[in-house]
Amino acid sequence: MSKLAILGGEKVRQKPFSPWPLYSENDKARVLEVLESRNWGGYPFPNRFASEFAQKFADYHGAKYGCTVVNGTVSLTVALRAAGTKFGDEVILPAYTWDGTATAVLDAGCVPIFADVDPDTYCLDIEDVRRKITPRTRAVMPVHLAMRFADMDALLDLAREKDLIVIEDAAHVHGGFYKGRGAGSMGDVGSFSLQTSKLMTSGEGGIVITSRLDCYEMIQSLVNCGRASETDQYGKRPTGCNYRLSEFQAAVLLGQLEMLPELTERRIRNAARLSAALAQIPGIRPLPVQAALTTEPIYCYVFQYRPSEPPSEAPVQRDMFVAALDAEGVPADGRFYDPVYRSDLFHASPADFPQLELGREEPVDYRTFHCPVAERAAYHESVWLPQFVLLGDENDVDEIARAVEKVARNLADLENADPKLAALKSMSRAERPKIEKRNY
Ligand SMILES: Cc1ncc(COP(=O)(O)O)c(C=O)c1O
Repeated sequence: MSKLAILGGEKVRQKPFSPWPLYSENDKARVLEVLESRNWGGYPFPNRFASEFAQKFADYHGAKYGCTVVNGTVSLTVALRAAGTKFGDEVILPAYTWDGTATAVLDAGCVPIFADVDPDTYCLDIEDVRRKITPRTRAVMPVHLAMRFADMDALLDLAREKDLIVIEDAAHVHGGFYKGRGAGSMGDVGSFSLQTSKLMTSGEGGIVITSRLDCYEMIQSLVNCGRASETDQYGKRPTGCNYRLSEFQAAVLLGQLEMLPELTERRIRNAARLSAALAQIPGIRPLPVQAALTTEPIYCYVFQYRPSEPPSEAPVQRDMFVAALDAEGVPADGRFYDPVYRSDLFHASPADFPQLELGREEPVDYRTFHCPVAERAAYHESVWLPQFVLLGDENDVDEIARAVEKVARNLADLENADPKLAALKSMSRAERPKIEKRNY
């Protein structure tokens, strides 16, 4: 094959992939309708389009109730509070996730405790969750990451055994189904982000779904400044805030939900073709099929770079591989997340979050955490492609596979490459926005 693009050769992929987000003529009409109605806000609560969208989204995922919120971080905090966590409670979550999953736990007054992830799904390792349970543990928060779900059967069994609340962080998996059960509908409460990069988006936004009326009422009150919920059967009055979504956003989301089934199907088809092709390339491992997924959600297509064992001793580091793939015209990332306890966006000190020392001789010290699978995924192994690269046709998929193969078969050319070529891909998420122009 020809010279690698990162070293001055011609790129495999010359055209851009699908634009994102997508919208339809119906969206334009609905947004104009909101504009002309002059009824733009989230109040009266829940407003017309927000209410319609929340119910349709909940129905789609098999939950009884839905409530839109300003983003997918607040949605997690609200979900924890509504499900009954209290100040100082421990919440177990995966180390390998976006920092917001953990900061939401802190904002709810709880203590994040990180568990490792499974090497085949990068989602919670349920045995490690079991090991991390203490008398203070009140909740567990699985994250269904990128294109896989946590092992929900095992997790729900464990939660029942130990009497734990389950809050699903389903920020990545709109329209995903696990053994016929919708994302976010299996635990006590499910939370979704609707930020720009996600499978459905209103630019910013979030939604919480649940089938527990007591949680739903509490969520509605928390989101609407503490006011009574629509149903108000439990009569609780928490202190809340204004976390309401605007009608412009809700109008866009109705269109996003209309598109979801077709786009999900397209991504599944293309991902299957890509996995089949990548499986033939030495040193590349697609994530194994997860049989429990009846509808696979693909927020990012993730595969593993394993040029030798152990991966950390590979002659060409993952970040260089990713930079070379990116240069071939396939948008790719490696250090998509740090293990949160090592992230420079996660500043959890007792001065800011006194729950970290409540009733303890020593405050929780995140420097003592070590989750080897999460660290390997973050720094050596995982390669992340954004979902919109799967919105094209077979030729687009074949080009992605050709680009991966070209880099994988020419690794020797990268062995002595200038490390500066991989500098962007080695940076943390905190450092990158200074130079990166992407909107995800
Ligand atoms: C796994 C996960 N949880 C929570 C969030 C937070 O969502 P938001 O950015 O809408 O606040 C994100 C967003 O990227 C996420 O990826």
